[in-house]
Amino acid sequence: MATEDQSGNGGGVASATDTLTVTDNRTGQTYEVPIEDGTIRAMALRDVKVSDDDFGLMTYDPAFMNTASCRSSITYLDGDNGVLEYRGYPIEQLAEQSTYIEVAYLLIHGELPNQKQLDEWCHQITVHTFVHENVKTFIQGFRYDAHPMGMLLATVGALSTFYPDANRIMDEDVRYMNLIRLIAKMPTLAAFSYRHSMGQPYVYPDNELSYPANFLSMLFKMSESRYEPDPRLERALDILFILHADHEQNCSTSAVRAVGSSQVDPYSAVAAGVAALYGPLHGGANEAVLRMLRRIGTADNVPDFIAGVKEGKERLMGFGHRVYKNYDPRAKIIKAAADDVFEVTGTNPLLDIATELEKIALEDDYFVKRKLYPNVDFYSGLIYEALGMPVQMFPVLFAIPRTSGWIAQWLEMIQDKEQKIARPRQIYTGERSRDYVAMDARA
Ligand SMILES: CC(C)(COP(=O)(O)OP(=O)(O)OC[C@H]1O[C@@H](n2cnc3c(N)ncnc32)[C@H](O)[C@@H]1OP(=O)(O)O)[C@@H](O)C(=O)NCCC(=O)NCCS
Repeated sequence: MATEDQSGNGGGVASATDTLTVTDNRTGQTYEVPIEDGTIRAMALRDVKVSDDDFGLMTYDPAFMNTASCRSSITYLDGDNGVLEYRGYPIEQLAEQSTYIEVAYLLIHGELPNQKQLDEWCHQITVHTFVHENVKTFIQGFRYDAHPMGMLLATVGALSTFYPDANRIMDEDVRYMNLIRLIAKMPTLAAFSYRHSMGQPYVYPDNELSYPANFLSMLFKMSESRYEPDPRLERALDILFILHADHEQNCSTSAVRAVGSSQVDPYSAVAAGVAALYGPLHGGANEAVLRMLRRIGTADNVPDFIAGVKEGKERLMGFGHRVYKNYDPRAKIIKAAADDVFEVTGTNPLLDIATELEKIALEDDYFVKRKLYPNVDFYSGLIYEALGMPVQMFPVLFAIPRTSGWIAQWLEMIQDKEQKIARPRQIYTGERSRDYVAMDARA
């Protein structure tokens, strides 16, 4: 099979040696499988058969530990070296110099905007922040103690009913309009969910404010005629939004791609992403960090706690990552943002415990040997709390910026000629060909 350089991680022009030779010891037959970008095509193994009517060899990969499901040019992640880039731009530079709105443009369009493009993009997003009044009515229908993430999940899915043409996903103009709406309305839905859970009146968007400032206004505005957050808090939130905008093929992004591959509208696909993020293994680790810090109580208790972790009694939450085997670059940036936030809000005693934990763990052989470093969740919960967010809002705060990443990945998927409806295979382990047993004959 001919190969071509698609500039993936492996890259390079194929040569005659870019193949894998496999011998099937069942038959003694040898196969040559092309290697492209450091991968072989799972379908190439289908030719490996013991007989003509054999289905052919499959790969078995629960949790997709070693399977690339797409080609993507959006986010580059090198976990061993702690590198994260959006469209080739290092996360550190984006966090320092860009804004979330510009990053959303970059993720979706592939390039940084010029001033005119950025102004137009900001304008479009700003004028679509309002939601239909009926959305408000049905948020009111949730119980007083409904989890804001559950409300966000339901309302973002429900938006598809307000924009029935959203299922025309191959119409570029329609598609564009709906992706603008998604980015614009997520903070509004998130804030309405929060206000509902607090029993407070909903606050309409203020289109004079920046994206993060408007969100803070919708969360916290009470009787004042205008809510204007401290610029340091507004910037810290914007940085958190930048850091959470995309992270290549994680659980929620894979959910958006899989559901979107049925060609459903983008609201429903994004709702699938919100659902995946709702799970504690994905969007909830920062809450676990806060609970852990509270339990430790004071910095003096840190050595005992670490000893317990090393004995395997529990895990040091906010440490370790499936992909990063080095300092998560986002954790470094968040730590700096935390310092800025605490300058405004006053320091949180939990920060001293976190700092002490990090210091001890980074020097301890147990953590060094296992390449366990702080991840993005180690400090983010502390910042969210300092911004006045209750823990139920943590995954919601993750979902707002991740929407731009989900959309960028969804767009890439629906325009990728190689993609079809996602449909994994299975190894069937159940019973076969049993005759139905009448009720009175069952044991
Ligand atoms: C993120 C996480 C699930 C990744 O897990 P993983 O890649 O499957 O790694 P493993 O569970 O195989 O762990 C490898 C080794 O490190 C240890 N380890 C991993 N994370 C640890 C932690 N946070 N504290 C203590 N030990 C940890 C494991 O016990 C294991 O040790 P062993 O080889 O002696 O058995 C895991 O590091 C973790 O649970 N972290 C805490 C939760 C968290 O912060 N999640 C947010 C991720 S963004």
